[in-house]
Amino acid sequence: MSANGPTKSPERLLVTGAAGFIGSNLVHWILANRPNAKVVSLDALTYAGNLASLEDLRDHPRHRFVHGNICDDALVANLIDDGVDAIINLAAHTHVDRSLMDGDEFVTTNVGGVRVFADAVKQHPEIRFLHVSTDEVYGSQGPDEVATESAPITPNNPYSAAKAGGDLLALAYQRSFDLDILISRCGNNYGPYQYPEKMIPLFVTNLIDGHKVPLYGDGLNIREWIHVEDHCAALVSILERGRAGEVYNITSGEGLTNVYLTESILEIVGRDKSFIEYVDDRPGHDRRYAIDSAKLRNELGWEPTFQFDDGLRKTVQWYRDNEAWWRPIKSGEYRDYYKRQYEAGTKS
Ligand code: NAD
Ligand code: TYD
Repeated sequence: MSANGPTKSPERLLVTGAAGFIGSNLVHWILANRPNAKVVSLDALTYAGNLASLEDLRDHPRHRFVHGNICDDALVANLIDDGVDAIINLAAHTHVDRSLMDGDEFVTTNVGGVRVFADAVKQHPEIRFLHVSTDEVYGSQGPDEVATESAPITPNNPYSAAKAGGDLLALAYQRSFDLDILISRCGNNYGPYQYPEKMIPLFVTNLIDGHKVPLYGDGLNIREWIHVEDHCAALVSILERGRAGEVYNITSGEGLTNVYLTESILEIVGRDKSFIEYVDDRPGHDRRYAIDSAKLRNELGWEPTFQFDDGLRKTVQWYRDNEAWWRPIKSGEYRDYYKRQYEAGTKS
């Protein structure tokens, strides 16, 4: 690959955080849409990593799962020695509320893990490294503001601050050593396989079970929601045709208040507004995220394909149809089950 971008689709991919929400969707997307691609999925199987999300790929001839930590330099070096054209880094600690309770793992993985890959690609400058980041690094936007890729980085919680640290480190290595590193920054994702601590799957699964949903503060915070498959398509476009050293924002542009979103979910699940419970606000709760993705759309021709109302209906239906995926998570059983199977060698 040249510093101006790859000349063909990378075929040997290392995807980290692959047992998480976006990672598992991305691995499925790549295997379905890139028939020559071989994927190694790396994941530490934290509480948020779930092998059930990759279960159907267990015997896939172009897929291999590796249980391991991105902060392990030796493991990453070994995986690269096996032959890798490109790395897509999604592994991270991702829940803002958890980061407010304990920031330790957020810094270790979201900053330290990026350092591991930056050093690895310094040794292997032929490898393209796409680091997956978030619109949250730009911080809260005023009512009329929209962050382009050159907007100031002003994160307000430990999660987004750690993500910002990872971004800055990746860009610093790119500039210092002229490496083939790029960054994507996306808005809030929704879709299948999202851990039910995040707003949409938490609310949908609570309502299916007849429980109330905890809406923070006045519920007027705004997030831009994108279907995870549209995010995956954008990531592959950036990986295949993005320019080294560049940042690409990814958004549907569909900014919604939490109240609007909650009422939409209530309507689809068939519950009334008495199921909303207003609770104390999240400390430092960012009021509004809003980003501009004109660069991605104009340079790489990406466009979202999901219209939010339709995507939300399909997502609610997925959680209705896949109780076997989320019920064990909510009850805490799944980690023990999968870890036992993994340790017994029945998972690879
Ligand atoms: P997730 O929490 O569902 O999944 C994260 C995965 O990373 C889990 O499988 C976990 O086991 C794994 N992981 C954590 N620490 C690890 C480590 N040290 N080594 C190896 N694996 C480790 O998160 P997600 O929502 O799928 O987010 C994936 C990425 O996309 C993150 O980098 C996040 O910042 C970014 N992102 C997410 C969103 C969103 O709305 N979910 C939006 C923009 C960007
Ligand atoms: P979340 O899914 O945690 O994503 P993020 O904080 O990364 O944007 O939250 C989305 C929005 O929903 C955010 O404004 C916080 C709010 N929220 C609630 O009101 N109640 C909840 O229980 C959760 C998890 C989030």
